[in-house]
Amino acid sequence: EAAEKGGFEHFMMKEIHEQPKALKDTINTYIKDGKIDLSSVGISPEEFAQYHRICIVACGSAYHVGIAAKYVMEDLTGLMVDVDFASEFRYRNPKLSKDTLVIIISQSGETADSLAALRLTKEMGVKTLAIVNVVGSSIAREADYVMYTLAGPEIAVATTKAYSTQLICMYILSMYAAQVRGEIEESALDHMLQEIVLLPEKVASILTDKERIQWFANKFASAHDVFFIGRGLDYAICQEGSLKMKEVSYIHSEAYAAGELKHGTISLIEDGTLVIGVLTQSHLCEKTLSNMQEVKSRGAYLMGVAENGSYYLEDMVDFVVYVPKTDPHFTTTLAIIPLQLMGYYVSVARGLDVDKPRNLAKSVTVE
Ligand code: G6P
Repeated sequence: EAAEKGGFEHFMMKEIHEQPKALKDTINTYIKDGKIDLSSVGISPEEFAQYHRICIVACGSAYHVGIAAKYVMEDLTGLMVDVDFASEFRYRNPKLSKDTLVIIISQSGETADSLAALRLTKEMGVKTLAIVNVVGSSIAREADYVMYTLAGPEIAVATTKAYSTQLICMYILSMYAAQVRGEIEESALDHMLQEIVLLPEKVASILTDKERIQWFANKFASAHDVFFIGRGLDYAICQEGSLKMKEVSYIHSEAYAAGELKHGTISLIEDGTLVIGVLTQSHLCEKTLSNMQEVKSRGAYLMGVAENGSYYLEDMVDFVVYVPKTDPHFTTTLAIIPLQLMGYYVSVARGLDVDKPRNLAKSVTVE
């Protein structure tokens, strides 16, 4: 097993480090010569252009990819985008029409609720596109179209590289939708395509500074509660960051849309409570920062995740992790890396089984 871990102590850390390669392999499969190429998925531009609504259905971290994708796709296109937990979608009598494309996201391709949601959609005569990691899995076999993530086998229960490659697929589908629907200028699309290929090396650069996060994680390893706050895409990042924290460290953590703090969560803030603010969306940073100040004045200890150059944070936030700048639609890919590392290091500091957290399974094949 030590050999399989490739010199890392745990599969989760190995897989965190495999992200640059996984991203690159996925990008190179669907972007060729600077152009989006979905020939291996098999969906034609004409067909894609005729949809008016996208429903994304998934569980766990794959659902969090859907939340991020909703922000990206709705910003780039005129499409209406809904995101549902598969376990809710399948029982809530969803209204689907032929102009809807249902996108199922699943690493394993075997999650019972996601598979049931796919079958329900097909029974209604509505087309399905699956984003799947495991080749030949049930969801991959039964979907009308499959876009594979090229993450390679993922062993750690807490997903990292599969999540990151799913995001890449959703970015590419969002840009493609904007392109075939004539909603993006060629120069803007070219710029995004140039930015997306830079993501793997930017992820690699964040990983070179991981000891700093380890130091901070050790300080907070005995925390009882952690709150993640952000707005827009930063809120989507918070939801995945919070899930990583709770699943491997067993620390109670919650993600809140920063603007919702005043509607309840702020009453939970005590002296020393760790609040992690994600600040990658420049048009929303000021608002989130003012929410961070509100919790700080009630005793919270603040960590921020922000883009390089946001040095103004130094005066207000106790500990800041900077990530490289990118297109604002792609920041999830970079800002999630420190949060994956936080979950990992807190778990290790607490002496827990980081690769196999209690009560969790890699693939939930029964309801
Ligand atoms: C489990 C895993 C998660 C995963 C979720 C959905 O809960 O522990 O990491 O996000 O299932 O799995 P899927 O294979 O459908 O992506």
